[in-house]
Amino acid sequence: MSLTNQRFVGSTQQELAPLRLEPLKVERQSITIPGLPAQLAPLTIAQLSDFHYDDTRLSERLLIEAIAAANAAHPDLVALTGDFITNAPTPIHRLTPHLSKLQSRYGVVAVLGNHDYYQHQARTIVTEALERIGITVLWNAIAYPFGEQFPVVGLADLWSGDFQPVQVMGQLDPDIPRLVLSHNPDSAVPLRRWRVDLQLSGHTHGGQIVLPNGEALPSFLLRLRQWLPRAIARRFWKECTKVILHWEWSQGYHRVGSNQLYVNRGLGTYFPGRWRCPPELTLLQLQSANTSE
Ligand SMILES: [Fe+2]
Repeated sequence: MSLTNQRFVGSTQQELAPLRLEPLKVERQSITIPGLPAQLAPLTIAQLSDFHYDDTRLSERLLIEAIAAANAAHPDLVALTGDFITNAPTPIHRLTPHLSKLQSRYGVVAVLGNHDYYQHQARTIVTEALERIGITVLWNAIAYPFGEQFPVVGLADLWSGDFQPVQVMGQLDPDIPRLVLSHNPDSAVPLRRWRVDLQLSGHTHGGQIVLPNGEALPSFLLRLRQWLPRAIARRFWKECTKVILHWEWSQGYHRVGSNQLYVNRGLGTYFPGRWRCPPELTLLQLQSANTSE
């Protein structure tokens, strides 16, 4: 089912402008986790992010396609990295019937994104709706779907005012590997203080527009500003860093010090659309250091 160049027109006033869309792309990434118990490896994790389910930014067709592709991979765990909604929380009740179809061996874990708490009560409404269908929502909390030897940490969003890595990471034995879900990739900076075998993030939508050289447009604009008059350069900086400071982490796999980070491009799309930046389902295969050789 291809959605190439399909124009999806929203039903609410503000976002009636058509979006340029691209077909779903399944990205496969193999990652070595030192100390991952041999009896668990390899582990397949399906990651989906940034649904922005609000009738304007994600078609039902693409959502169904992404969930079917995740299920077809028979993942051990599904990780959802936030922005289920955009502003009003009520569309979560139309999203959860779809998310309830996700299948995996050890369950579905989630963290919330910045859009999931902007409106009054949104955080509670989104969390309760997800938990009602059996999804574990982590807000500065630890889950053990794989057992004690490979915990899954979920942090509050970096911008929430309640991002508490000290409190959460401090509970873990430094000798034990861990998976960390954190919506905003910029959180990889403060997380350098701790062992993070793999951080899964979203938030950037990959920049949505990617230039032929593979660079996200905001990243290019930030580089460009050194040749611009100071006033315009300042404006560029303000606009381009609204979403993220580290545009070099706009998508894909990165090493951050000795930690590992993977950033999913998300499913939902903001105006004007996507260019060379397709919506993504990530299939991560985690190998133990011993089994990856
Ligand atoms: Fe988002």
